[in-house]
Amino acid sequence: MPAKFVPSFLCIILICSIVDTIALGINRGRGVSKSCKNEIHRNKKLPIPLECPKLSVPHPPSPPLPLITEILEFADQRLAVVYPIVQKFKSLITSDPLGITKTWVGSDLCSYKGFFCDNPPDNKSALAVASIDFNGFQLSAPTLDGFLDQLPDLALFHANSNFFQGIISPNIAKLPYLYELDISNNLFSGPFPSAVLGMNGLTFLDIRFNFFSGSVPPQLFTQPLDALFLNDNNFMTRLPDKLGSTHILYLTLADNKFTGPLPGGIFEAFSSLTEVILLNNQLTGCLPYEIGLLKEAIVFDAGNNQLTGPLPLSLACLEKVEQLSFDGNRLFGMVPELVCEMENLVNLSLANNYFTMVGPLCRILIEKGVLDVRNNCIPDLPFQRSVVECANFFAHSKLCPDMWSYTYVPFSCSN
Ligand SMILES: *[C@@H]1O[C@H](CO)[C@@H](O)[C@H](O)[C@H]1NC(C)=O
Ligand SMILES: *[C@@H]1O[C@H](CO)[C@@H](O)[C@H](O)[C@H]1NC(C)=O
Repeated sequence: MPAKFVPSFLCIILICSIVDTIALGINRGRGVSKSCKNEIHRNKKLPIPLECPKLSVPHPPSPPLPLITEILEFADQRLAVVYPIVQKFKSLITSDPLGITKTWVGSDLCSYKGFFCDNPPDNKSALAVASIDFNGFQLSAPTLDGFLDQLPDLALFHANSNFFQGIISPNIAKLPYLYELDISNNLFSGPFPSAVLGMNGLTFLDIRFNFFSGSVPPQLFTQPLDALFLNDNNFMTRLPDKLGSTHILYLTLADNKFTGPLPGGIFEAFSSLTEVILLNNQLTGCLPYEIGLLKEAIVFDAGNNQLTGPLPLSLACLEKVEQLSFDGNRLFGMVPELVCEMENLVNLSLANNYFTMVGPLCRILIEKGVLDVRNNCIPDLPFQRSVVECANFFAHSKLCPDMWSYTYVPFSCSN
């Protein structure tokens, strides 16, 4: 499969996430230029300089720098400093089908395609490269090392849909202002870039559609991030058993190899999540009743895993949920009528499981096209598994521990 090929169902996630992201007001792509017009750097409370001379800087000092800067005049010293870094990166680019780097010439870095300048937070009269938006540029380079980590005033780095490779330098931890990092849909590999763990200003991390592998450090989930997209990598790890509180609103772990059960202990931390996408992993075990703590969830998708057991009644606590999917698991029992009563449901996908019963309220949802229970074991409905297939499954299926919890709603659903 070519690296850039994105199966259509993943596109849906991708598009949804992007739409959501835009709705969130987080700058991606187009948003960047907008924020560049205003102010890229957040207003940090900075010490006010003792004297604020009205500086006009027609002639920057000419320090003893390499030859090239002697003939180029930079609007600010900070641009002179990063100029050779940008030029070095340019020389590493092996493919540039859109001719982007043709514009990366001369001393006016702020006019280079993909580069945006702003006053850095530590000196409002200086000018620096504050934002990079390479989204969709299709550039190839063997590494971002020595580039991304050497742009000290960077607040946003968006480089989705390029062919960048290598690992992410631990030195990015030293970028004090970086708050959005999007390197999705590239060819990065290696372990999770744990440098981001120390970056307390980072609110948006999107590394989906790469080749990262290994485990995901649990501390990541408690970073002050709003959005975390890890989907479509090769992460192979269990979810942590317990988490402190998380700020994350959008959590997408789809298309990795997350294994083991969904620990009941993480749902309290996830209670403010709006979107949880666990699609296409290798999660096993029974659903914990604590799933009912996801009170803010609008989308919850645990499709194509190996989850088993019944649906806990506490699911009905997800009052805001519009899209709920357990498609392609090994769930069985009755589809709880309480779940079919949830007011905001637009799509409840339980197809390709082993449910045996649906009550009258759920049948109304089937008629409306909201509930999909195809390919289950419901005797009087069409498009079900064969009797043999169902008998085989039930001969080998195990009950869940704590069966009592499936009919028990131990916390109040209504506020
Ligand atoms: C702020 O930036 C301006 C322009 O680069 C520079 O001349 C000035 O020395 C800087 N001030 C401080 C306190 O660094
Ligand atoms: C409902 O959700 C399932 C699983 O996520 C998806 O495959 C299906 O296309 C959705 N149906 C509609 C009508 O949106």
